Amino acid sequence: MTKSNVSNQVLGLLSGNSKENPFHIFANVREMGPIIPISNPMGETDNQTWIVVHMEEAIQILKNSKQFTVDPTTIEEKDDYREKIYDTEQTTAPDTFFTGKSMLFVDGIDHRRLRMLVSKAFTPRFMEGLRPRIQEIADELLDEVQSKGEMDLVKDYAYPLPINVISEMLGVPYADREKLKIWSSAIAKGLGWGKQDPTVAKHLQEFGEYTKLLVDKKRKQPSEDLISQLIAIEEEGDRLNEAELISMITLLIFAGHETTSNLIATGAMMLFEHPEQLELLKNDLSLVPSAVEELLRFNGPSTSVGPRFAKEDIEISGQKIKKGDMMLVMVKAANRDEKVFADSEDLEVDRKIERHLAFGYGMHMCLGSPLARVEGDVAFTTLLKRMPKLRLKIPTEEVQWQFNLSSQGIDSLPISF
Ligand code: HEM
Repeated sequence: MTKSNVSNQVLGLLSGNSKENPFHIFANVREMGPIIPISNPMGETDNQTWIVVHMEEAIQILKNSKQFTVDPTTIEEKDDYREKIYDTEQTTAPDTFFTGKSMLFVDGIDHRRLRMLVSKAFTPRFMEGLRPRIQEIADELLDEVQSKGEMDLVKDYAYPLPINVISEMLGVPYADREKLKIWSSAIAKGLGWGKQDPTVAKHLQEFGEYTKLLVDKKRKQPSEDLISQLIAIEEEGDRLNEAELISMITLLIFAGHETTSNLIATGAMMLFEHPEQLELLKNDLSLVPSAVEELLRFNGPSTSVGPRFAKEDIEISGQKIKKGDMMLVMVKAANRDEKVFADSEDLEVDRKIERHLAFGYGMHMCLGSPLARVEGDVAFTTLLKRMPKLRLKIPTEEVQWQFNLSSQGIDSLPISF
């Protein structure tokens, strides 16, 4: 395989336009080395773009916040890469996590400050406290369909479960959840390297405007939820300003459900494609937590983490990386690194996994991973317990996959049980 072939195939994946199996491409790329140069997905620039596909180098880069940053504007005067991904007309709409200053796109003191403000609400201990409510939500969703003998696993279960959980935590009114769905999936589908979908800018704007109104309402009528707590912090003065508050809320809403829905839907699909693993799991539900980790490793929701930019010249595994170069850590490729995982291309729900990168690594490692883990555990345990005869109603080849900038999902998964 030549370098330009690799570049084209990877660019196809990153743009969200390729329907090719990404794992064949990643296996080929892994053979070429840990860090491979590709053309810049957003067109010509002075700096090189690299993809990182082996575990060791991926970790080396993600934990090295001294020499790599998520914020290219701290390196030198250059256009923000986020503005290039979608049409950014200046508007008066409030900034969202994508256009404004959210923890995902800042480093150092600002990152620590923003993350600390919400980290208590996402600790494993706090999440365990939420488990009974998550269980109730899962049961209510299955009660709705149990007597029908069939459902769309995405629309009836994988999607509503996490959106209901995060909305309750934040205090988003029930009636508004449909709007969040429209915005979030439009944003997720519209984002892709080198892809300019003008509707994304519109949806981000509406999302920002909606969140600002919600904050105004909660200012007048605070309650016990996380948004009200964040407003109280903002009103104290120096730890959070209003723009950061809006960015934070939109980030928590977006990150808090889209990926977890994909974990449940894609995870179920992986089990349908590996019936012996599904059987193993059904016969021993105590394996569900390890199965969730394996499903995250094997085909987790995120294809890559956000780009990192080199703050100085640096050499890693023989590759000379220059200041300003963009590093795309492909977590899906690293999670199948044969140097780390035996039979890495096999799904084994009882695999003992020391570490995978589905939630990223280092300072920006997923804040919501404890929540996603409890949701995954409850979702699969409840589904398999209550519907042990579940099966896919359509041939696996007919399932429609969605490839987005950083994640991959399924729109619809009709099953009977
Ligand atoms: C299976 C589900 C999930 C997956 C696969 C996932 C994946 C990720 C990944 C890979 C990152 C790192 C991004 C980077 O380094 O550039 C991340 C960050 C983040 N995730 Fe998740 N996530 C999931 C669920 C959640 C949930 C439920 C929340 C809840 C609000 C959440 C909130 C966040 C936040 C706030 C960040 C930014 C952390 C920071 O920059 O310090 N995620 N997620």
